[in-house]
Amino acid sequence: MNLAIIGGTGLSQLEGMTEIRHQVVSTPYGEPSGPVTIGRMGGHEILFLPRHGYNHRIAPHEINYRANIWALREMGAARILAVSAVGGISAAMKPGSLCVPDQLIDYTWGRPSTFFEGDLESVTHVDFTHPYDPELRAAFLEAGAALSIPMIDGGTYAATQGPRFETAAEIRRLSRDGCDVVGMTGMPEAVLARESDLRYASLNVVANWAAGLQGDGRVDMDEINRTLGIAMQDVRRLIVRMLQY
Ligand code: HPA
Repeated sequence: MNLAIIGGTGLSQLEGMTEIRHQVVSTPYGEPSGPVTIGRMGGHEILFLPRHGYNHRIAPHEINYRANIWALREMGAARILAVSAVGGISAAMKPGSLCVPDQLIDYTWGRPSTFFEGDLESVTHVDFTHPYDPELRAAFLEAGAALSIPMIDGGTYAATQGPRFETAAEIRRLSRDGCDVVGMTGMPEAVLARESDLRYASLNVVANWAAGLQGDGRVDMDEINRTLGIAMQDVRRLIVRMLQY
């Protein structure tokens, strides 16, 4: 059992997974978002942890990312598939699309974002040139091809602080910076996985056009929830398929 799923907005429960047990894990960094679920899906054992908690109560900037990654590693995870809802910035990223990003820019601040601090024997600087694991990304894309689920290969993810959505000017800036999608939870999750030697890739579910881009430009939570409800069915099929790799 080495595959773990981190669920985001719209994926607080993993339908189709038979739950075997829940494990409360205590970590040097405090409490994870909840007990880790050990489950069975498509004949394989997997781990599942919803980053906002099972009741979707933990805001993006208050998630204990270090405890979550620590807990999954402690439970034997070697590979993490992170699912997250995003806003679409570039033209290809229309609501309902699935994107497997290959780059990110971190705009978050004030989040504990490294394991390598405090009482250290020596300073460690991890390589983060390619923030997502290429093999896991390829497996995601292969799974999409096998299931005829269209997926966008590559894109730059902007991690913003939240919990508010962005202003129209902020989105214009992210666009100038070369960002294709925007979400609030991709960092420091990705770098903590890298620091822990865990393979990590992300599946971005485009839930809405980012602020200022369409219609009256506002971001509407009802629209987001509707779009996610539909797209998550494909996400579940993709996860089942990924279990074979
Ligand atoms: N911005 C930031 N995070 C998001 C968005 C958005 O527009 N949609 C879903 N998560």
